[in-house]
This record gives sequence, structure tokens and C-alpha cells, in this order.
Amino acid sequence: MFSTAFLDIPPLQEASGSVTLPGSKSISNRVLLLSALCQGTTVVHDLLDSDDTQVMLAALRQLGCGVEVAGTTVTITGLGGRAWPTEAIEFFMGNAGTAMRPLTAALAVQGGDFTLKGVPRMHERPIGDLVDALRELGCAIDYLGNPGFPPLCIGQPALQLDKPIPVRGDVSSQFLTALLMALPLAAADRAITIEVVGELISKPYIEITLNLLARYGIDVKRQGWERFVIPAGSRYQSPGTIHVEADASSASYFIALGAIAQGDGIRVNGVGADSIQGDIRFVEAAERMGARVTSGPNWLEIRRGAWPLKAIELDCNHIPDAAMTLAVMALYADGPTLLRNIASWRVKETDRIVAMAAECRKLGATVEEGPDWLRVHPLPNGQFTHALTKGQWQGASIHTYDDHRVAMCFSLAAFNAAQVPVRIEDPKCVAKTFPDYFEALFSVATANARHIPVICIDGPTASGKGTLASRVAAKLGYHYLDSGALYRVTAHAALQAGLTLEASDESHIANLARHLPVHFEGEQVLLNGMDVTDAIRSEQGGMNASKVSVLPAVREALVQLQHSFQRLPGLLADGRDMGTVIFPNAPLKVFLTASAAQRAERRHKQLILKGFSANIDALRADLEARDARDMSRSVAPLKPAQDALQLDNSQLSIEASVEQVMVWWQSRQVFG
Ligand code: DC
Repeated sequence: MFSTAFLDIPPLQEASGSVTLPGSKSISNRVLLLSALCQGTTVVHDLLDSDDTQVMLAALRQLGCGVEVAGTTVTITGLGGRAWPTEAIEFFMGNAGTAMRPLTAALAVQGGDFTLKGVPRMHERPIGDLVDALRELGCAIDYLGNPGFPPLCIGQPALQLDKPIPVRGDVSSQFLTALLMALPLAAADRAITIEVVGELISKPYIEITLNLLARYGIDVKRQGWERFVIPAGSRYQSPGTIHVEADASSASYFIALGAIAQGDGIRVNGVGADSIQGDIRFVEAAERMGARVTSGPNWLEIRRGAWPLKAIELDCNHIPDAAMTLAVMALYADGPTLLRNIASWRVKETDRIVAMAAECRKLGATVEEGPDWLRVHPLPNGQFTHALTKGQWQGASIHTYDDHRVAMCFSLAAFNAAQVPVRIEDPKCVAKTFPDYFEALFSVATANARHIPVICIDGPTASGKGTLASRVAAKLGYHYLDSGALYRVTAHAALQAGLTLEASDESHIANLARHLPVHFEGEQVLLNGMDVTDAIRSEQGGMNASKVSVLPAVREALVQLQHSFQRLPGLLADGRDMGTVIFPNAPLKVFLTASAAQRAERRHKQLILKGFSANIDALRADLEARDARDMSRSVAPLKPAQDALQLDNSQLSIEASVEQVMVWWQSRQVFG
């Protein structure tokens, strides 16, 4: 997961390959709650691991359910037939609507002494219609803040279930889902009827609910979309084992990717055309826009068809979440695309109509919006630009409103013909449903190497370049190449193979270097799977590296390996010849210096911390000698690249140095 403040996605060229998607959020949280309410133990496979399911799991633990997590398999021992908690419990629901609504209903119907709170945005998301319905049937619920919104306080109910229970269907289908999952708890000796008031939106989500209720032994009788009857004698029963389908809404980004990007097509694993999720019908919308889709029981394959995409007009009531993806596909179309019947967007993680319009405009598009519709005009698509296209692509910093779908949708703008990058702010918000979304995207998307940014950092020994480079890499979410480590590992491997580090063994060492089986895992360096971190990080390891690094054939042999570190979304490269030889076109090169006195002091501190004795004057003399040798050597001497910016950090903290590099980097970006 990218936990950086922002993620810059370079302009992308093509996409090919397959992705396996995480479990559906809607199915995951329903399954968790149903497993908690039923009698017996349920083994849930392929559960989504995300903020929303974490919230639900935490709540179930608080209620006293047995919860055992092993990767994506979770075993839940239900509360059915066991004691319901009587002590006061406060639940924190974050911004997880799929946990908040059904849990509120279940807790209110069972009764207790409960408080439910969330993040500030959760306290702005309406729940009044659900509370009204629950009060109608005798539940005791109070608002602790603004009427109609969380936080809530729940007490003991006096249930009256003889007449039909009305619930509004035109704000969020989650209210009806919540009642459908809670009321079987009270249907042991009488049938219970729910009546929907107003046109029911998001019907597919109700289908998911009914489908899953059936798996747990509750056979709801549906009369049109207006009446739902839970038969008398209903009782939750564990299905024993249940598999969660991959998220069809998450699939929409990869379906769109297949439709937009050139390449050999995209295969999506974990969900197919027979999915019980309504958002699978996004496939039809994508096909109308030009995608070529084939599918099987648990997979989809998508390729580009029409290009530019074809503009469409669509009533999106049946695919409320996935339809957001169409708004970004519309930028690649041959005319304006109109998305209708999307009022529900206004009460989601953010007001999604406002958000999608504002961010599409930042990219340069013309967008019109109404109370429940959005019209997006396309941007130029190179040689295929349509006459109706207005405006120009702009490199934009996309605000994501703590809304996972906004973040995922806009990553698709990186295929723009103007080849401008896209910045996604707060990329970790995708954790709500798809923590590794960007990793999945980068695993199938390719960019032209000249578009994948490289920042080079070099400087004399003990200047702190390694620390600086790895900190900047962490801030940007970029890969990190410690090229010195490659020379250290090469020397280590050479000695292990019984070679000397002299010129006489140059070609043998170069052969080793060319196929160096080295892997980096965080701070660890593995050679042939063996941890060699300590061995290569010693002073002796540095000396040995210095010896092999003067051999031209060895340097040549390591070029390809170093180039292979230039991967999406970008690279921090640390070492001698990064900016001069390996990545001469890097858009930012920093030459880090510090006075010999300062460096000697730092190295001294380091050694003392590690428990070695050291003499500061000797260290300084040593450093000065090494500088002189490094600067005068004929192969890859220590000297700044011509276009490098010098940073003297003698008087700077590491944070201040990182900040300076970030300021330089920002000044080279196209984002306003
Ligand atoms: O940065 P370091 O101390 O790990 O480097 C070990 C040795 O390798 C050092 O003598 C410099 C040399 N080196 C090099 O010649 N070229 C590089 N790109 C990186 C390191």
C-alpha cells in the first residue's frame, strides 16, 4: 500500500497481464455480520482485508464473537444461541457505511447499551431513514449529535412487529439491507413484513443481500421491489464455509484499463459474468463504450475495441459505484457522455457528483452537473481526436476526498495522449476496498522509460546520501536503488567463489555480477536467498566494494541490473555514477556534501552506537584520504554530474535535507 501524502503516476502507455482482485466489500461485511448472528462456526474464504472489514471485525470481537484471522480466511463463531452482551459497549465505525448501517439495525433489534461513532465524515452521512424505520418497530435509538446522523446511542427495544415496517428506498439501499439482516433475529414466532417507500435505488445490492440471506437459511419472500416478507420461524444457520467473490466494483478499473490501454489485454481473476454483484453489469456499459470483453465462471478478459471510446448516455441506477469509472472513461470518448440517475453519489464517502466534476475539470475537461446527473466532455486523444472534443489535458493533482473510488478512477487518466502525469493525493484511501490497488495497476501497466522519473543522489562517503535517498524514496513511494550495495554484494560473491578482487580476475567477477542473484527486502540484502546484510555493511565490505568498483568490466556488467530498478512509479538512485552514466537523463540530480569534520563526527557517532571504539581524528584523516582517492581515480571518479544541484548538509538535519530535495522535486512537476 502507498502511505505517502501523494502518488505521482507517470504517463502510462500500455497494459497487459492478469490481476487477482480482493474480495467484495459488500459481500465481505454482510458475510461477517451474518456469520456473527448465526449459530455455529463459519469459515469465510477470500475475505477482503480493508478498513471497512477491519471495522466490522473489531465490532464483532467487542460483541464477543469468536474471530480467528489467517490471511484472507477468517473463522467466525456466531452469537446465535449464546449470551448477548449486557455491558455498555462503544463501537468505532470509522467511515465504513457497510458496517455502520447493518450493525446499527442488528444491535437495535437485539437491544443493549451501545454507542456507535465514526470519523467526522461518517457523522455527515444520513442514517435518519433507517433510525425512523427502527423506531417504528419499537427500537430505542437516540442521536448523540445532529438528528438524522451518527453518532447514535442504542437501548432496549419494545418490538412491535405486527404491522408492515416502512423504510425509505430512495436514499440508500443499505437501510433496507440493514433491516433485512436484522429482522430475522425477531422472526422466530411471526412473519415480518418490510415495505419500501419511494423508488428503491441500487436494487442489485438488495439482490446480494437476499442471495446471502438464503445461504444463511433465511428465505425472504420478495413481492416486486415494494414488499419483503421474512417468514415466521426464520433462524440463522451457518453455511459452514463460504467464499467471497472478488469485488465487481474494483473490477471496473481493470475493465476500463483494458478498454483504454493498448496492449495484449487484461485478465481479471476472482469474478466473472455469473457474479451475484450488480456492478458486474459495468461490463455492458464498458462494451457499449467499445471494450471487447470475454468471460468465464470466475474471470474476465478485456481488450481495447473502439478507439476513441464511444460516448454513451446511461441510467446508472443499477451500477452506482462502478459508474464512477465511466466518468473517467468518458475523457477518452468521441463525444459527451451523460450519466443519469446517480443521486446516491451525493451521500457516499463524499459527494461524488461534486468530486468527479471538480477533478475531471482539473484534468482540463468540460463537465456539466445536475442534481442526479453528470455530463463529461472528452479530451483530445492524439491522432484519433474527435471533432467534438474541447479543451486540453492538464497534469493535475487529484484531490481524493477520503474516497477510495475517486482515487482509483483517476489513476486511469494517466493514459492521456498529452502524456502528462497524474498526481493522486492521499493514495492510501484505497485501503477501504483495495489496499494494493496501485501495485496491481503498476503490475500490468507500462510506461515509456523516459517517463519513469529517477532522482539521483550522490556524494562523498558518510555524507548521508543513503539515508537521504531512502527517506525521499519513502516520501514519494518510489523504489530505491542502493548501487553501492550491488558493488558490495559483487565483492562478497567474488570472494565466496574463491576469486581475488584484483584486475586479474576482472572478467570472472564481471560474469558473476552480470547474473547476480541479489534481492532487497526492506533493509535486508539477500544473495542467493542468504542474508548477507551484515557481511556487506562492514568497513571491510566497503573496502572490498571499492576494489571491484574500479574494474570497468564489473561496472559494465552491473548496468543492466541497475536499469531494471527503474520501475513504476519512480526511482531514487544512490551512488557514484547514477547521474553521469546509469541515468544521465534523470530529471533531478543531487550532490550531497558535508565538511570532512561533520562527516567524521557522524561516522564516529555511528560506530560508537554500534559498540565499536573509534578515534575522531583518525576517522577524519581517513575520510579525507578516501575523498582524494575517489576524486582522482580514473574510473567513475567522485564528482558531481554537470547538472547536479549541490546540497551541503553540514548544518542541516536529515528532515531539512529531505525537505530541500522535495522542494526541488516539486518545482520540476507540472502540477499547479
Ligand atoms: O555507497 P557505498 O559505501 O555502499 O559504496 C561502496 C563502494 O562502491 C564505494 O567505494 C563506492 C563504490 N560505488 C561505485 O563505484 N559506484 C556506485 N554507483 C556506487 C558505489
